[in-house]
Amino acid sequence: MSQKTVLLVYSGGLDTSICIPLMKQEYGYEKVVTVTVDVGQSPDDVKMAAEKAKIMGTEHYTVNALDEFVTDFCWQSLQANGEYQGYPMSTSIARPLIAKKAVEMAEKLGVTAFAHGCTGKGNDQYRIEFGIRSLMPQATIHAPVRERNMTRSWEIEYAQKNNVPIQQSLEKIWSIDENLWGRSIEGGRLEEPDFIPPEEIFQWTKSAENALNEGIVIDIQFQNGVPVAINGDKASPSQLVLKMNQLAGDNGVGRIDIMEDRMMGLKVRENYECPAASVYLKAHKALENLVLTRDEIRFKSIIDQEWSRMAYEGLWWDPLKEDLESFITHTQKRVTGNVKLKLYKGNITVLGRKSDWALYSEDLASFDTTTFDQRESTGSVKNFGLQARMYHQLLKQRV
Ligand code: ARG
Repeated sequence: MSQKTVLLVYSGGLDTSICIPLMKQEYGYEKVVTVTVDVGQSPDDVKMAAEKAKIMGTEHYTVNALDEFVTDFCWQSLQANGEYQGYPMSTSIARPLIAKKAVEMAEKLGVTAFAHGCTGKGNDQYRIEFGIRSLMPQATIHAPVRERNMTRSWEIEYAQKNNVPIQQSLEKIWSIDENLWGRSIEGGRLEEPDFIPPEEIFQWTKSAENALNEGIVIDIQFQNGVPVAINGDKASPSQLVLKMNQLAGDNGVGRIDIMEDRMMGLKVRENYECPAASVYLKAHKALENLVLTRDEIRFKSIIDQEWSRMAYEGLWWDPLKEDLESFITHTQKRVTGNVKLKLYKGNITVLGRKSDWALYSEDLASFDTTTFDQRESTGSVKNFGLQARMYHQLLKQRV
């Protein structure tokens, strides 16, 4: 393909749609290729993107990346207990995959120029551009919304002048980002930290009032730190997430409303729905607590935190992240077993856990056996905190 072709990472929304005429009129490209990566956003949005691309005459590709997203991104995040400021990361772990799929397509077509619709205020510009540059160092990347300091009203006017279909974008009050691991809703009055979110923003979860009255008990089978079956039924990775989103969402599980610190320091109010991720993360931790040693758990929480920070920033192909993952992957070899939980009106309660790798021995812990001879503890108890005892002795001598 000629040098005058640009590949636009395309969602179908207002920001990315106006990039299509802009790339020709202002950036001098002859041809625009649009790529929409399906990571589990609403199927209507994927279809709508393809339709709009057709209307605007781009060469359009829809890439289905559902199973790859779950296997290589959601599961990796689960093994790392991935969360940022108390919510399971979802937008951030999809961006590297979107960048990867865009680069794969560009390589196939012989294109080295990219465009994306990220604004200059958010995190996604870092994640997308880092992803593309890591996988194609010679890439040229355009970010028109940021580069031209665009406002929404300018974008609407430009769209109307250039026959960009935007009816849907105008009707949408909320800015929504979705993938299988979570759904984020922001914008409009939701940005006000004390505005009570209206029920209509939630699509995947019922309110506690409307959730099933009895709740449900589920059993999750894990192998090497990732789920393989729900209630004994094995399913593909993406099916396991879809099914759990449904089960947990029906029970009002997974709504999170937080103040979030973006990479640049902006504090923003965010609402999330992440039913499956919330359940799997809780179950995964419960199983880790059964099979890992106390020191592994303590040290892994540091590794997990560092991994989560890097994932939040989109540093997916950073060597340190790979180093952290060697540690994480090694620990997950024993995170195999089952966890039973109750989902009830927004709550997740662990009811039980079992594993062949359990570091629990009934014989040792029970109050009723003598295998663990209590008398042997005497010496270690006496010398426990030896240095603190010396310190207090010294203090006493001084008065
Ligand atoms: N603040 C979150 C993040 O940086 C989510 C942003 C999602 N975007 C949206 N338009 N809802 O990962």
